[in-house]
Amino acid sequence: ANDPLVVFTPSGKRGRFPVGTPILTAARQLGVDLDSVCGGRGICSKCQITPSYGEFPKHGVTAAADALSDWNAVEERYKSKRGMIEGRRLGCQAQVRGDVVIDVPPESQVHKQVVRKRAEAREIVMNPAVKLFYVEVVEPDMHDPSGDLERLRGALADQWQLSDLQIDLTTLQSLQPALRKGGWKVTCAVHLGSRAYRPRIMQVWPGFHDASIYGLAVDLGSTTIAAHLCDLQSGDVVASSGIMNPQIRYGEDLMSRVSYSMMNKGGADEMTAAVRAGMNALFDQIAGEAEIAKTDILDAVFVCNPVMHHLFLGIDPFELGQAPFALATSDSLNLTAAELDLQLHPSARVYLLPCIAGHVGADAAAVALSEAPEKSDDLVLVVDVGTNAELLLGNRDKVLACSSPTGPAFEGAQISSGQRAAPGAIERVEIDPVTKDPRFKVIGSDLWSTEDGFAEAIATTGITGICGSGIIEMVAEMRLAGILDGPGLIGSPAQTGTDRCILDGRTYSYLVWDGTADGGPRITVTNRDIREIQMAKAALYSGARLLMDKFGVDKVDRIVLAGAFGAHISPKHAMVLGMIPDAPLDKVTSAGNAAGTGARIALLNQSAREEIEATVRAIHKVETAIEPRFQEHFVNASNIPNAVEPFPILNS
Ligand code: FES
Repeated sequence: ANDPLVVFTPSGKRGRFPVGTPILTAARQLGVDLDSVCGGRGICSKCQITPSYGEFPKHGVTAAADALSDWNAVEERYKSKRGMIEGRRLGCQAQVRGDVVIDVPPESQVHKQVVRKRAEAREIVMNPAVKLFYVEVVEPDMHDPSGDLERLRGALADQWQLSDLQIDLTTLQSLQPALRKGGWKVTCAVHLGSRAYRPRIMQVWPGFHDASIYGLAVDLGSTTIAAHLCDLQSGDVVASSGIMNPQIRYGEDLMSRVSYSMMNKGGADEMTAAVRAGMNALFDQIAGEAEIAKTDILDAVFVCNPVMHHLFLGIDPFELGQAPFALATSDSLNLTAAELDLQLHPSARVYLLPCIAGHVGADAAAVALSEAPEKSDDLVLVVDVGTNAELLLGNRDKVLACSSPTGPAFEGAQISSGQRAAPGAIERVEIDPVTKDPRFKVIGSDLWSTEDGFAEAIATTGITGICGSGIIEMVAEMRLAGILDGPGLIGSPAQTGTDRCILDGRTYSYLVWDGTADGGPRITVTNRDIREIQMAKAALYSGARLLMDKFGVDKVDRIVLAGAFGAHISPKHAMVLGMIPDAPLDKVTSAGNAAGTGARIALLNQSAREEIEATVRAIHKVETAIEPRFQEHFVNASNIPNAVEPFPILNS
């Protein structure tokens, strides 16, 4: 009872320990989160702590330092080699001498919080599936014959309480040289295992492995594939990169890829090979950027929509092209990189998040993981806008999900002057309610078209078309300026008072920009374009409205727009269009690439994988195709903003 008292901050955990107890030992006994890769041998420096207060102050020495054993040779060696922040000690070397308060700085905590990016809704706490462990292995002995692997397993069990460890043949092949080169001291990368598979030794390095290990969070979209390379020890994103999905050449949108596979023998296999090859090219690019070897990448998490999911796995997406849209599996998958032809570490693991339903994929599950509607007190509608919009509506009580076939109009496809978001594309629009003249911004410049210097600013790109967010603003502004009526018809010059309304067949088009004099295109919005946007926005709105019906509400508390496109949409214009339900504008936020964030969470925290699996099981799936109410909502929602539902908040 008279042993010194050791208190750890920030956890507040405390206990009495005999004089001479290493701080690391005390921390472990109390369950304090203090990192160690070398197991207290003074090699890894992961255990750094700061003594902050000791009970017996002496003149000339800080009280805290006095409550610990003196600075020792191991720390001296580490400090002279690497340097150490003033006042820090190695937790495995410093021993208890008197009552002391020990602060564990964030970088010494295993389960540290990862620094959050601005748009991210939740914090990420480190709990990766793969970790490093340094061990000293007993040398072989003629009198006690046993294999090197058995002795390594024994060391990992004794020194790290790791049991039941599997090993791949490639890792086994490198085991004996590593053990001998390291003088029977090695660092192992161990996958800690999960409900789905047993723990595994993935790599053995001779001696202390003084470098990090990495993981990939991949968002496999139908248009682009984006990846974040993360340090599995610090949680930092060390590089981010993206490429176009090479499957584009088999079809712009998902359904055309599904029909390609239906119409062409071996078509699905071709697309599988293409996406995997693209993925490997992306991995080369990202590893090159971070200056690491691809073989240092030990874990990867993938999120994607159901069709991409099947094509990536080498499963024909045929069934997803027809009712009842059965998935091969909706469960999460634990696979190896090798079986997917991914050139990472030979033992690297791949985790795919579960799919929610036939049209609501692992990407929507990742959005759910990142936005956590099931933890929200207020009712939140999360909309991932794409060619297939995925919607989640929920709060603590329940979460509903559906998808809605918006088509590619929001990506600028099937719009006469539509284009992808790229330099030269109109992305912001305002139309003067009196003159009916537009002014706009083009990707690549910060100036409005009416400002001085605009012509010079866009000299290299020109004005080439209208991107998805631009077309939404355009149509909404046309409606606000009275160029367009509620049913979606562009008025004549007599009705609108502007010559920009030009007769085009039997309907009118609105002239935005006539660049023909400079050899550029003539950019107009036709009545057909308006139709496309009406269909797309009506589909999106009807999906949201259907979920609201099922929830038994007629308004939502807040709306989150997810996805790269969602980040660019102006909430006001989306609401003027009646694309999303009426809500206070300050309650409509953008979550950026929420699917990518969800993938990163699952990569860095293994328990988040179990969490999302449970959440997905609990989500109520709503199939829009069989809901008669969907059609009804769709018809009403074709009007701008809506034929029957007022938008009181927007109009107030
Ligand atoms: Fe590795 Fe202290 S535990 S240096």
